[in-house]
Amino acid sequence: MSQSIPHGGTLINLFEPTFNYESIIQEIELDNTALSDLELIGTGAYSPLKGFLKKEDYDSVVDYMRLADGTVWSIPITLPIHEEKANELTIGEWIKLVKDGVVYGVLKLEQLYTPDKVKEAEQVYRTSELEHPGVKKLFERPNVYAAGEIKLVRRTDKDKFASYHLDPKETRRKFAELGWNTVVGFQTRNPVHRAHEYIQKSALEIVDGLFLNPLVGETKSDDIPADIRMESYEVLLENYYPQDRVFLAVFPAAMRYAGPREAIFHAMIRKNFGCTHFIVGRDHAGVGNYYGTYDAQKIFSNFTSEELGITLLFFEHSFYCTKCEGMASTKTCPHGKEDHIILSGTKVRELLRNGELPPSTFSRKEVVEVLIKGLQRQTVNS
Ligand code: ADX
Repeated sequence: MSQSIPHGGTLINLFEPTFNYESIIQEIELDNTALSDLELIGTGAYSPLKGFLKKEDYDSVVDYMRLADGTVWSIPITLPIHEEKANELTIGEWIKLVKDGVVYGVLKLEQLYTPDKVKEAEQVYRTSELEHPGVKKLFERPNVYAAGEIKLVRRTDKDKFASYHLDPKETRRKFAELGWNTVVGFQTRNPVHRAHEYIQKSALEIVDGLFLNPLVGETKSDDIPADIRMESYEVLLENYYPQDRVFLAVFPAAMRYAGPREAIFHAMIRKNFGCTHFIVGRDHAGVGNYYGTYDAQKIFSNFTSEELGITLLFFEHSFYCTKCEGMASTKTCPHGKEDHIILSGTKVRELLRNGELPPSTFSRKEVVEVLIKGLQRQTVNS
């Protein structure tokens, strides 16, 4: 199998740095999520999207996890604006998309509509509880959606992890240069632990290359910060991974915590980055107890493999077993829970914040050192 075909057939490129927006008067102020969405649409990471969803696509995504033309798409990518702003705008006009006084894009306004957010929450997040960080965000954002195609006129500042920011066309080129026909993508929002390493390396046994793609966009405030997450990967790669079979780059999207729906979204985007395979483990993109352990795997059965266009690699909940003396899952280990080292992310964050070391059976010592130093730095700076 050769490199994956972009979702919808064509890799979208809407970056037009020479686009003249001087005469455009109206502007919409973007939040961090909208800015990252704008850039990801513009670079083709969200192919086949060419803009913020119009009502017919939005309704279809919310109800059926498909765009109006039937293409698989599970998360509504919308541009929420305040009602007062909406009242100033005219359908058909160009609008500047601005963050902190800087113009990053333009939108040809095609529609303004008011979503049913309770329905959106229940369909996309499977709950309308405001304790859910994705739902909270959904309700915090303004109530009218502006829709239409965009152009990206300026890239965001990449001072942090500059060398790890690659667009889909660049990762595709890179994979080709490396001679990889099959590439497995890995999404993460956490520092790397042994279970991650285990499933990544299990996948690497059957494909040519591993594309590690930690998310560095907006996350909830108690997730480990992105720079510490990236450093944890750097030390691990240096010490435990074959350099020529792994490629690390950031995924600059906001985390939605939409569990199963976000797993589909993550897979389609990694397909655009050139992956042929994608890892979905336990409670992918989940939060709290909102989703069943394997819901993010089961949801893919709603689609045919042709319409997904990427091979999913599903992994059981894995752990270190003291009797097996290695990483395992219930698929490979006959021993009981008492022999399994399982720590929740919350527990690990708590240990680290108290300066306590998680066991080496949970996390490699090099990674633990990075985490402790990073969190100490954070405490000093805050
Ligand atoms: S996520 O929100 O980005 O999915 P996380 O960084 O924890 O969170 O997970 C990254 C990937 O590893 C996901 O596919 C997740 O399902 C998988 N994963 C995390 N921990 C385990 C584990 N112990 N066993 C199996 N899969 C896991």
